[in-house]
Amino acid sequence: MIFQLVVSANLIKFVYTNVVYNKMKKINMNKMPVLFLITCFVVVSSCQKENISTIITSPNEVNKIEFQLIENGEPFYKVYHGNEVVVDTSKMGFDFKDQEPMSKGFKIIGTKNNSINEVWEMPWGEQRKVTNHYNELIVELEETAAPNRKLNVYLRAYDDGIGFQYEFLAQEGVDSIIIMDENTDFQLTGDHTVWWIPGDWDIYEHLYNTTTVSEIDALSKQNHPNLAQTTIPENAVNTPVTMRTATGTHLSFHEANLTNYAGMTLKVDKENLKLTSELVGSKRKGYKVKRALPFKTPWRTIQIADKATELIESKLIVNLNEPNKLTEGIPFKPMKYVGIWWEMHIGKSTWDYAGSQDMTSQTTGIEPHGHHGATTKNTMRYIDFAAEHGFGGVLVEGWNTGWEYWIGFEDREGVFDFVTAYPDYDIEKVTRYAKEKGVEIIMHHETSSAPRTYEQQLDTAYQLMNRLGIHSVKTGYVGKIIPAGEYHHGQWMVNHYRKVLEHGAKYGVAINAHEPIKATGIRRTYPNAISREGLRGQEFNAWAEKGGNPPEHLPIVAFTRMLAGPIDFTPGVFDIGLPTKPNNQINTTLAQQLALYVVIYSPIQMACDLPENYKNQPAFQFIREVGVDWEQSIVLNGEVGDFVTIAREEKETGNWFIGGITDENARAIEVDFEFLEKGKTYEATIYKDAPDAHYKNNPKAITVVKIEITKGMSQTFKLVEGGGFAISLIERK
Ligand code: NOJ
Ligand code: CA
Repeated sequence: MIFQLVVSANLIKFVYTNVVYNKMKKINMNKMPVLFLITCFVVVSSCQKENISTIITSPNEVNKIEFQLIENGEPFYKVYHGNEVVVDTSKMGFDFKDQEPMSKGFKIIGTKNNSINEVWEMPWGEQRKVTNHYNELIVELEETAAPNRKLNVYLRAYDDGIGFQYEFLAQEGVDSIIIMDENTDFQLTGDHTVWWIPGDWDIYEHLYNTTTVSEIDALSKQNHPNLAQTTIPENAVNTPVTMRTATGTHLSFHEANLTNYAGMTLKVDKENLKLTSELVGSKRKGYKVKRALPFKTPWRTIQIADKATELIESKLIVNLNEPNKLTEGIPFKPMKYVGIWWEMHIGKSTWDYAGSQDMTSQTTGIEPHGHHGATTKNTMRYIDFAAEHGFGGVLVEGWNTGWEYWIGFEDREGVFDFVTAYPDYDIEKVTRYAKEKGVEIIMHHETSSAPRTYEQQLDTAYQLMNRLGIHSVKTGYVGKIIPAGEYHHGQWMVNHYRKVLEHGAKYGVAINAHEPIKATGIRRTYPNAISREGLRGQEFNAWAEKGGNPPEHLPIVAFTRMLAGPIDFTPGVFDIGLPTKPNNQINTTLAQQLALYVVIYSPIQMACDLPENYKNQPAFQFIREVGVDWEQSIVLNGEVGDFVTIAREEKETGNWFIGGITDENARAIEVDFEFLEKGKTYEATIYKDAPDAHYKNNPKAITVVKIEITKGMSQTFKLVEGGGFAISLIERK
């Protein structure tokens, strides 16, 4: 084989050209970019060693990844955006348990390239159609010395960023490998502004910090009092982590298709401004990843954008995942829901039947205390409310036995039972009643981080749901993982979360995981991964001692966590002052609560407040009306941590909804309605902060106005501190 010889630069160049040419013919590309692939070989010294480099360019030629093999066969890569180097020469490598590290002594034995331009459909999503357009270079490496291990590197250049992954190939006499460390570097080119949360192995429920890279101090977030569990072993950050360079380029580092591997945090070298992959480990097993050969790692991804808004529009993460495996579909439909949930968080009722616990304290008793939330009667009240106002679902938390012992105990194995209801909850009756009313019950499975107990009951639990006609479940993983030494974001738990998804797929059940593994675009392959938490959600606003989310939280989340995938944030608090929680409040205005239904994407959106708090509230009309499944989405404006405005067109109806939010600063936002279709007239209902509104002392003051809007008009909205605006645009037929 010619590639195994690697004789001369010219010969390789010739072979390359032919490979590209043949491939082009085969896949019948209508137009190949001129700069699709450049291969060059640079002789750096008069000695026998050479630096070899290849470049792959995005379809619009703006983003490039260069792969280099330097003198002693060390693999490196470098990323360009136009003329700007956004990631400088960065090394790639691995350390293993029973093998020598893989980081040098390679030669290139072959290269392949590929170009894809396709459109696929999301069954539910921010948009119906997604364009997947990239150029790919596959570099096949082999060690020059025994045991001549092989490693392939896949590099993809998209217009909205880049991704690369490693492929470990079969090794003679070796079934599986144990990875002690992945050493993928990301050499930054400046001390960028960065929005980060610590590289916690157990939970993403941290507030975002805005610093420069050299100021990142994740260890100061250790033992964070707000969290039920936290493990921050290094000065590392979790992904997606978003940065802005001095030139205004925006970068967001993350991973795609996290399958049977450990989640990646990024360790920070403050002096050299370098990030390095730091995989979440298993202290129980003493390693990071164990895999049978051959296998591919998740993609390491960098979304690259000139404007912050383009990060939100990027579809890089889902594009780097496999196509939909659930080709026969599942019975889930995007919906808005209400539920027995907020009342526990604000201390009005409890999950348990006989204890007296809330999220912060727990005592146990044996007698029913009369404050149990998930009773038959209360559930029927929520069902009536849902039916009256057009909600699709009612979530019921605290319906099953086990809540008396769910937190505050080391031995939580076997505590929860996922088929046995408390005596005051008649599950047959409520599901029957819901069906009659055209509403669906949403199942709840809190595992209290005892995944083995959950796995043992998965079949019976999902069979019960099938029998009752329940098509979605909210799962939860509060607390330290049992067994000790495993972490929420390690390989063992990544596999657990996937097992639950696969089980869901088998039984036609959609999953909304709380305390989850981060989203990495798996929803493309398993659309039953409908939503997840994985951030500091609305619940934090209810826990007095725990402090609410500051107004800048969501204007950061939209450009960080939300790039990973749908969020079950549970917006819609109307009683913002939280009378049962005198030390706490929601740090937004009412208008911002409405805007969140558009700004935050999820195919399920909760109206989380108590039904009585929506009574006689004109603003409630927006929640009734707003869509949950979208034909297309446009990010109209925004800056990370400051503000963001998103417009989304509802599937089927063609109605548009717009949401805009700001941080603690008041600001005027102009909306240009140029995106509307020409010739159509829309009845716009605008919900905006009253002039004297303020998130601190006058959050509920809202003004509702109705006007006609057509393409080409523009309007300026004044958002107060912590404020927002929401607009429904209903086409006049
Ligand atoms: C934490 C979840 O985030 C919250 O939504 C849920 O109510 C509790 N766990 C109980 O499962
Ligand atoms: Ca949570």
